Amino acid sequence: MAVSPDLSVDIGGLKLKNPVITASGTFGYGTELTPFFDPSLLGAIIVKGLSLEPMPGNPPPRIAETPCGMLNAIGLANVGIEAFIAEKLPLLDALGVPIITNIYGHNLKDYAGLSRRIEAVEGIDAVEINISCPNVERGGMVFGTDPHTAAAVTHEVVRNTTKPVIVKLTPNVTDITTITRAVEGAGATAISAINTFLGMAVDVATRRPKLANVVGGLSGPAIRPMALYLVHRVVQAVNIPVIGLGGIADYKDALEFLIVGARAVQVGTASFVNPGAAIEIVDGLRDFCLREKIHNIHQIIGELNTSGERYGQKGNRKNQ
Ligand SMILES: Cc1cc2nc3c(=O)[nH]c(=O)nc-3n(C[C@H](O)[C@H](O)[C@H](O)COP(=O)(O)O)c2cc1C
Repeated sequence: MAVSPDLSVDIGGLKLKNPVITASGTFGYGTELTPFFDPSLLGAIIVKGLSLEPMPGNPPPRIAETPCGMLNAIGLANVGIEAFIAEKLPLLDALGVPIITNIYGHNLKDYAGLSRRIEAVEGIDAVEINISCPNVERGGMVFGTDPHTAAAVTHEVVRNTTKPVIVKLTPNVTDITTITRAVEGAGATAISAINTFLGMAVDVATRRPKLANVVGGLSGPAIRPMALYLVHRVVQAVNIPVIGLGGIADYKDALEFLIVGARAVQVGTASFVNPGAAIEIVDGLRDFCLREKIHNIHQIIGELNTSGERYGQKGNRKNQ
């Protein structure tokens, strides 16, 4: 009988039974999809971005479908950290899967307050800092586009919690590796790459933007090749683990990110199309390993084969 492959990964001390995590904002507070599958089969769940106070988010319309993807401008609507701890966390705790809270603030004080609160409760296994949301006026992406503020936020969270700190990067920068190195230097345990790309859509009949916020974040398969490229660059820039995401819809997509060096992956928009997507990816990875006689997922991670390629040689890039 074939032995089940070892899919487990370690993200800076956070041990996951497999490398598949649900992405923040696309899986609610973790319990919404329990009718569809057993969440304990996942590597981890990342909950919707939390702020100190409850937030109503942006006015509707907040989402628009686009070719192979979607635009959203939810504006980080959430119940606030206290209601999350009181009402949502006990239910999440019962699921038997590592829980990662995604947090965002308007200033350093907010990030410090959130980190201290999270440090004080059991049942939260790691913190993902959102310094990359394009849909809030203050905070969010503003912090993630400057290496100094990105490092300052990271430092503030790291000094207020002993839990692993994952920093989620925005792709909306000129050079993602500058930000990557800055947050690694500030003590980040790991990096999530990437959040959504800025985008917009217009209703030609009314001449109005399709989102009330005018601009939003683009996600889904449309962004996958760009996300993969950025993850490839981020992996090469740092020594800490990288969690790859952006348009992953099936196990082959997940494999691409693992092969370029992501230690784990997140599944976002795909869950809206197919609530079982994340679990199917876990199954797909296991079956792939069995077929390929791979005993341990680490035999795939970072195994990008560029031998014979000229990529990376100065003045000789394949795509030039
Ligand atoms: C409706 C929606 C809500 C989101 N909310 C958050 C959030 O609260 N915090 C965050 O860091 N990212 C949020 N994201 C970004 C996703 O976690 C993910 O980074 C992005 O969608 C790219 O991955 P995907 O193409 O697999 O969806 C949200 C995305 C969508 C589509």
